[in-house]
Amino acid sequence: MKHLYSLSLKTFIAITLSVFCVSVHADAVDPDAAKAFAKQNNCFRCHGVDKDKDGPAWNKIGPKFKGDPKGEEKLLHHLSSGETAKFPDGHEEAHMILKSDDQKEIKNLVDWILSL
Ligand code: HEC
Repeated sequence: MKHLYSLSLKTFIAITLSVFCVSVHADAVDPDAAKAFAKQNNCFRCHGVDKDKDGPAWNKIGPKFKGDPKGEEKLLHHLSSGETAKFPDGHEEAHMILKSDDQKEIKNLVDWILSL
């Protein structure tokens, strides 16, 4: 009985680990693709990865949203809704809307910003 139990525990751990690895793999961020996509969409005109321009540096935005379970959702909303953005000179305008046929590219970019 004890032997059986330890076998099934091992099986359980193996299954748990493989499920975990698959889900981690599915969520893996591709930083190079994210940067290329941001460049292609002119995000770097107003943002630096680690430098403030008209918009805040992305390595400041990432940590602000990382601990928030809705962080990803909020950033996806930010990039699709044209929310009001406050510029350093005090004026406000609608934030650029990121248009793409490929939602995976947008999600990869957001996940990359969240990983900074
Ligand atoms: C014309 C300048 C400009 C461009 C282009 C621009 N941004 Fe921004 N972005 C801003 C400003 C200004 C803010 C600050 C908004 C605020 O704090 O009110 C901002 C804020 C953000 C935020 C933080 C949102 C939040 O709720 O704190 C993210 C994420 C972001 N931008 C991503 C992007 C991405 C991705 C692109 C390219 C598709 C992009 N931005 C293009 C000016 C710009």
